[in-house]
Amino acid sequence: PTAHLTIDPHFVVGPINRRLFGSFVEHLGRSVYDGIYEPGHPAADEEGFRTDVIELVKELGVSAIRYPGGNFVSGFRWEDSVGPREERPRRLDLAWHSTETNEVGLHEFSSWLDKVGSELMLAVNLGTRGTLEALDLIEYTNIARGTALSEQRIANGKTDAFGIRMWCLGNEMDGPWQLGHRSADDYGAIAARAAKAMRMVDPSIELVVCGSSGAQMPTFGEWERVVLGHSYDEVDYISCHAYYEEKNGDLGSFLASSVDMDRFIESVVATADHVKAVKGSDKTIDISFDEWNVWYQDRFQQVDKIEGIDNWPVAPRLLEDVYSVADAVVFGSLLISLLKHADRVTSASLAQLVNVIAPIMTEPGGPAWKQTTFFPFALTSALATGSTLVQKLTSDRYTSELYGEVNLVDAVATHDEGSGRTSVFLVNRSQTDAAVVTIDVGALGSAALLDAQTLSDADIHAKNTLAEPTRVGLRPLESVEEADGTITVTLPPVSWSALSLG
Ligand code: AHR
Repeated sequence: PTAHLTIDPHFVVGPINRRLFGSFVEHLGRSVYDGIYEPGHPAADEEGFRTDVIELVKELGVSAIRYPGGNFVSGFRWEDSVGPREERPRRLDLAWHSTETNEVGLHEFSSWLDKVGSELMLAVNLGTRGTLEALDLIEYTNIARGTALSEQRIANGKTDAFGIRMWCLGNEMDGPWQLGHRSADDYGAIAARAAKAMRMVDPSIELVVCGSSGAQMPTFGEWERVVLGHSYDEVDYISCHAYYEEKNGDLGSFLASSVDMDRFIESVVATADHVKAVKGSDKTIDISFDEWNVWYQDRFQQVDKIEGIDNWPVAPRLLEDVYSVADAVVFGSLLISLLKHADRVTSASLAQLVNVIAPIMTEPGGPAWKQTTFFPFALTSALATGSTLVQKLTSDRYTSELYGEVNLVDAVATHDEGSGRTSVFLVNRSQTDAAVVTIDVGALGSAALLDAQTLSDADIHAKNTLAEPTRVGLRPLESVEEADGTITVTLPPVSWSALSLG
């Protein structure tokens, strides 16, 4: 197949918000315990955090991190997670049929975030709780001093306010699996009331209202319209969540997953703008794509599921998907989709970060290593600075079972005026053939190729594992030629690649 891309720095979609490279740590499985936190580990610091994991998180380049859930948050009492550790209660976590020890809570997690250099994005429980508890939490975190809860925080060792800017108003409230699942009308009204009250405490916060748990939800579209009908004036973002997996051996559709993500984003933008028009508002609602990834959900239903009245394990192995090269290629294409919509997707969270559907894996007492998905995230986070450029792409096409006719090659370019750097991210969805892509870079003037890397392999099922932790990685893309303002690059079949010019 062939494709042609024209790059012109004069035509900009929008600035790339660093929050696009966020992630997510939920109290789920071994994400926190035996993941970021393992006091007995040889690499643990004085607070029990694994320094090898901290280094990998820094290398990954994540901005804001969403916490503490996820489904977990809908049964969470934040007060359990602060104060003297020996007094913290052990609780049932109904979302994941586990025991939460509360050994790591708000203060500890915030301290870990300081170590990795990321911002906190905190979710309040609107499943089994409401406005009052959300108000208590924001008083505890954001009021400097002089009130019951701010003084309690100070007594618990944190003199300065946490100053948390980004807040999620519950989690996936459209999902029947969610504790406290509600109708769009009920949730929209509750979210609007909670948002209004929280802003009375701190007007500078940014609020994310729950959108749909996926474009396949039966209420999708109508949910967004009704929820924003209630909450439009009170919130800043509506969330999107999407997970993709190869189903029934249909690799062609799986490789085209980002087409679904594109359509999902564009539908939510249209719905939000419809509510804006109806309300005659001059405010625009952005998208917080605060859960996205490849996730083999069937495996969770069939293998991982914990049951039994006497069976509530602490930090069980849950959702520990091991990602292949093909998974990482799809993952890279999802990042391309997010970047293409940088004007409206101004926050996103890779779900999740460590051990649970994660780019980073750990073994208790043993090593930490990078999954295949680590590489496209780290390189995109490092290279995609400045603004996304308008996508001028033509490509040969193929027919996928789920999404119809789609491009064999997808691509996006970014340009940073400050540094003069341009980056191009490309995916070849062909399962059999290399794709020859010509890139017209004439409008960039004298930009030269600085680097070209690819993630591909003769074995698209290759993975990194405890036994073979460095089997898959990036390698230089050799097949790049430059002549007369045109770059010609040959992309291997089932590959994700990044070029950097400057
Ligand atoms: O990320 C795993 C789970 O997926 C989250 O807890 C939930 O919000 C979503 O369904």
